Amino acid sequence: MDAMKAILTRRSVRKYSNKEISDGLINELIESGISAPSAGNQQPWHFIILDDHKLIDKIPDFHPHAKMILNAQRAIVVCGDLDLETNKGFWIQDCAAATENILIAARAKGLGSCWLGVYPRKDRISGLRKMLKIPLNIIPFSLISLGYPAVEQSKVDRYNSERIHRNKW
Ligand SMILES: Cc1cc2nc3c(=O)[nH]c(=O)nc-3n(C[C@H](O)[C@H](O)[C@H](O)COP(=O)(O)O)c2cc1C
Repeated sequence: MDAMKAILTRRSVRKYSNKEISDGLINELIESGISAPSAGNQQPWHFIILDDHKLIDKIPDFHPHAKMILNAQRAIVVCGDLDLETNKGFWIQDCAAATENILIAARAKGLGSCWLGVYPRKDRISGLRKMLKIPLNIIPFSLISLGYPAVEQSKVDRYNSERIHRNKW
């Protein structure tokens, strides 16, 4: 699938089949994440792969919009490492870019994914921190649920000329 098609047809998928995702494919997704741009190339990220449903199934206890993760095959937590920051404050954009790269790569590889917001919600951060024993200098930023889709993904038209400005507001 070409890049434009993957970007334009990526949708949040919350229903998955029970087909397994290979470790090789997960590695390709991580590779996509770490190919994201970052401020001063600081690459302040870590990725936690979740494939144990004893853990995954606890997520809705502290994340109010994550019930769909119960039927996901795997999940990835994208984390920011404050000790790796050379350009203070930009870890958030860097981790968002890595998250989006993973979503697009998942689409290109025939997977469905959904970005579950974590940072800056304190209860979601502390829930993941406690469950996964994440140290204090590491901030869980986003959670990506993954699985082969049980629903179609297609382009939606969000073009709104009022939001597009040229040379001035
Ligand atoms: C920062 C962020 C947080 C999100 N959090 C959740 C979430 O907690 N649960 C969920 O089901 N979807 C979540 N989403 C997915 C959005 O609901 C989804 O992207 C939006 O409705 C647009 O749909 P689309 O992704 O299919 O284009 C989140 C998306 C972003 C970017």
